Amino acid sequence: MHLESVLKALNLKRTTLLEVKGVPLLRSTAENWASMQAFQARPDDLLICTYPKAGTTWIQEIVEMIRHRGDPEKCASAPIYKRIPYIDIFPPKPIPSGIAEADAMPSPRTLKSHFPIQLLPPSFWEKNCKIIYVARNIKDNAVSYFHFHRMNQMIPESGPWDQFLQNFIAGKVAYGSWFDHVCGWWEAKDWCPILYLFYEDIKENPAQEIQKVAQFLGQDLPEPVLNQIVQHTSFESMQANPMVNYSTLPSFILNHTVSPFMRRGIVGDWKEHFTVAQSEQIDDIYAQEMRDSSLTFRMQL
Ligand code: A3P
Repeated sequence: MHLESVLKALNLKRTTLLEVKGVPLLRSTAENWASMQAFQARPDDLLICTYPKAGTTWIQEIVEMIRHRGDPEKCASAPIYKRIPYIDIFPPKPIPSGIAEADAMPSPRTLKSHFPIQLLPPSFWEKNCKIIYVARNIKDNAVSYFHFHRMNQMIPESGPWDQFLQNFIAGKVAYGSWFDHVCGWWEAKDWCPILYLFYEDIKENPAQEIQKVAQFLGQDLPEPVLNQIVQHTSFESMQANPMVNYSTLPSFILNHTVSPFMRRGIVGDWKEHFTVAQSEQIDDIYAQEMRDSSLTFRMQL
């Protein structure tokens, strides 16, 4: 049966969240926690990890283009979610879990996860896998996550913007507190092979940040290849590319008419959403939560 018919027959609904060690996760992830933790990483795996909506798809396609030496044809073999398994998810059967897709994939694999550091399956540490983490400033991240809740028919309803923002600040959204996530991974980069990147830096100087990724992967990119990757992974190119813009999923899963997956792709879009009071509220909490961290973000370029 065609995938879309299978999905339709499953009559999928928006899920609820369930906590694991105090972190809200999609219910099916939490219910499969034993399998999740038993996931077997391989030493040559590359893990891409982010808080949701921090630029995951962007860095995924950058990595794909680097691995394929700037050949867009090779990156057009399948949608990004097929090329890079999202290990956290457990859709209803017969749709394979992210783990099953990863297990079936030959090495070297690139894998995606949104787990905060304390929930990552231990084998990633045992195998000393390379990890790329992308962080995005809290205000744009919150806005993007809000619109994603509106368009993704599988996750909880967003509710009105202010209600969502209060849930987000309190960490009552899938994957929990933004603060814990970005700070946890920031501290880990001192003791394991993590390349920690910022959405704002990639936006400002994509060539420089793509070179950092290439170096981290042990690759040297000649100028023409680098230029090709910059062009292919620009917001405009990715917005128009069905292999990365998620238009290949049926609209009863991702409804792009509510809000497109490739929505704005800018730094500072939060100014269109936040009231002055909301902005001041988050600034106060931010100052408090980040007071002991050396991590800094840019809210505008
Ligand atoms: P906006 O909702 O602010 O537009 P993720 O892949 O982690 O779900 O993140 C999605 C966010 O990254 C969306 O943000 C999307 O537009 C943005 N994005 C995706 N590709 C991008 C690109 N090439 N350049 C800039 N932003 C991009």
